[in-house]
Amino acid sequence: MTALDLADPVAVVGTGTIGQGIAQVALVAGHPVRLYDAVPGRAQAAAEAIGARLDRLVEKDRLTGADRDAARTRLSPAESLAELADSHLVVEAVLERLDVKQQLLRELEEIVTDDCLLATNTSSLSVTAIGGALRNPGRFVGLHFFNPAPLLPLVEVVSGFATDVTSATRAYETARAWGKTPVACADTPGFIVNRIARPFYAEAFAVYEAQAADPATIDAVLRESGGFKMGAFELTDLIGQDVNESVTRSVWEAFFQDVRFTPSLAQRRLVESGRHGRKTGRGWYAYGDDAERPEPHTAEKAQPPAYVVAEGDLGPAAELLPLIREASIQVREDEEDNGTRLVLPGGGQLALADGQTSVEFRDVVYFDLALDYRKATRIALSASQDTRPGTLAEAIGLFQALGKDVSVIGDVPGSIVARTVARIIDLAHDAVTKGVATEEDIDTAMRLGVNYPLGPFEWSRKLGKTWAHDLLEELHLRDPSGRYAPSLALYRHAYASDKREGTP
Ligand SMILES: NC(=O)c1ccc[n+]([C@@H]2O[C@H](COP(=O)([O-])OP(=O)(O)OC[C@H]3O[C@@H](n4cnc5c(N)ncnc54)[C@H](O)[C@@H]3O)[C@@H](O)[C@H]2O)c1
Repeated sequence: MTALDLADPVAVVGTGTIGQGIAQVALVAGHPVRLYDAVPGRAQAAAEAIGARLDRLVEKDRLTGADRDAARTRLSPAESLAELADSHLVVEAVLERLDVKQQLLRELEEIVTDDCLLATNTSSLSVTAIGGALRNPGRFVGLHFFNPAPLLPLVEVVSGFATDVTSATRAYETARAWGKTPVACADTPGFIVNRIARPFYAEAFAVYEAQAADPATIDAVLRESGGFKMGAFELTDLIGQDVNESVTRSVWEAFFQDVRFTPSLAQRRLVESGRHGRKTGRGWYAYGDDAERPEPHTAEKAQPPAYVVAEGDLGPAAELLPLIREASIQVREDEEDNGTRLVLPGGGQLALADGQTSVEFRDVVYFDLALDYRKATRIALSASQDTRPGTLAEAIGLFQALGKDVSVIGDVPGSIVARTVARIIDLAHDAVTKGVATEEDIDTAMRLGVNYPLGPFEWSRKLGKTWAHDLLEELHLRDPSGRYAPSLALYRHAYASDKREGTP
C-alpha cells in the first residue's frame, strides 16, 4: 500500500491552530486541499491565513512564487461537509471531545466514498473509542501532528484496535511523502511522546516541591548538564501550564490514576490561580518588559583538591577521570573494587547520584548525571547536614576546576537529571513491552517530538544496562508509592541475560 496520489484531494475539518498547519503541509506537498469548519467564515479565514503563510515562505526563499500560486489554486474552503465527498483522506482537527468527534465521523462516513481514509489528530482521546462510531473503523487512523505542523517533522501514526494494517500503512506512507517523519504506535494513553515525556516535567516539579532547588536552578541543570534544550519550568511556561497539566491529567486518568503519572500539586496551584505561563504574563516565571528572570544558584569559588582517589568503576561518570587529570588534579586509582566513588583528600566521598541520600552515608556529596561531562557547563551537587562543609567545598572546587558552574541543591535522592533520565528510560522500556512502538520509533519520537538530546534507548545504551533500573530501585525504597518502581520490562533488560547465564 502506497501513499496517496498527489492528485487525490485531502480535506481538513476543523481549521483552528493545528488544522491550518496540517492543511498547509498537505497543500505544499501538492494535494488539492479542502477546508471545512463548523463556524461559518472560519474555513475562508483559514485559507487566507494559510495563503499569507505561503507568502512569507516565498519572502524567505523557501517556496517559489509559482509554487505558491499553484498551491493557492489548489486550496478551497467548503461551506458544507457534503463538499468533501471526493476526498481521499479527511483529517479531523476539531474540538477535543469524544462526542463531537464521533458525531462528525458518523456524518462524514455517509458522505465520502468507501475507500476514503479517515484520520483524527486527537492528542489525548482514544483512536479506538472515536472509531467506535464508524460502521467501518478499519479505515480510521490517528495522524498526530505536532504544533506548528509545517515546522515539526514528527507524526505519530496511531492504530486503533480496529484500524486495518493497510489504512495505517497508507497514512504512514502519506505522512512520509509529505516530508514528515512518521512513527507507528498503538492506541494507548499519550501515544509515544505524551506518555514517555511525563517524568521530564514531573521530576522537576517534585524536586521543587521537595524544596531542594528553585525553578531557575532546576532549569539550568536540565539544560547545562542534562543537555535538554529547555528546562521543565520554562518549557511549561511556553506550552501553557493549563495545557501541559491537562495532558498530564488526561494520561494519568486514562491509566486509571497510575501513580507513575500523578500530576503535580505545585502546578495545580499555578493553573488554579491563572498563572498559565507566558500567555498570561506569569507562570513559574514572570514575563513582561520589567520582569527579571531569576538566576540559578551558583556556588562561590572554592579551592580544588590536590588529588582524588578513584575507587572502583565510576560507570557513566568514568569520563570525568580524564577531565580531572587535564585540570592538573592527580587521580590515584584504587585497585580494590570497593565502591564507585571519588575519595577526596579530607576523607569525604563524591559519588554519582544513585538514588540514595547523603544522610545514609554521612560525609558524601552526590553529583548529578550529565549528558556529556566534557561539554556540561553546570553540575548539581547534593549534600546533607551530615556532609562536612570541607567535603562539600572540595567537591565544589573540583568541578569548578573542570570549568563547571556548580549548583548546590538539597539532599534529594537521584538529583535532577539522573532521576529524570532513569524514569524516561523506564517508561520507554515499558512502552515497548506493551506494544506501543519499537525502540527505534520511540527514540525518533522523543528526539523530534520534544527535542531530547538522545532517545531513551540511545541514552540507556550509553549509561549501561543496569544503571536506570538500579537507580529507580533505590528511589523506590525511599518512596514506596510505586512512582519509582522499575517496570518488569526494565528489570528484564537489566538482568535477564545475566540470570540466564547463571541458570544450569
Ligand atoms: N494545537 C495543538 O498544538 C494540537 C497539537 C496536536 C493535536 N491537537 C488536536 O487537534 C484538535 C484541534 O486542536 P486545535 O488546537 O487546533 O483547536 P482549535 O480550537 O484551535 O480549533 C478547533 C476548530 O475546530 C472547529 N470545530 C469544532 N467543532 C467542529 C465540528 N463539529 N465540525 C467542524 N469544525 C469544528 C472550531 O470551530 C475550531 O475552528 C484537537 O483534537 C487537539 O487535541 C492540537
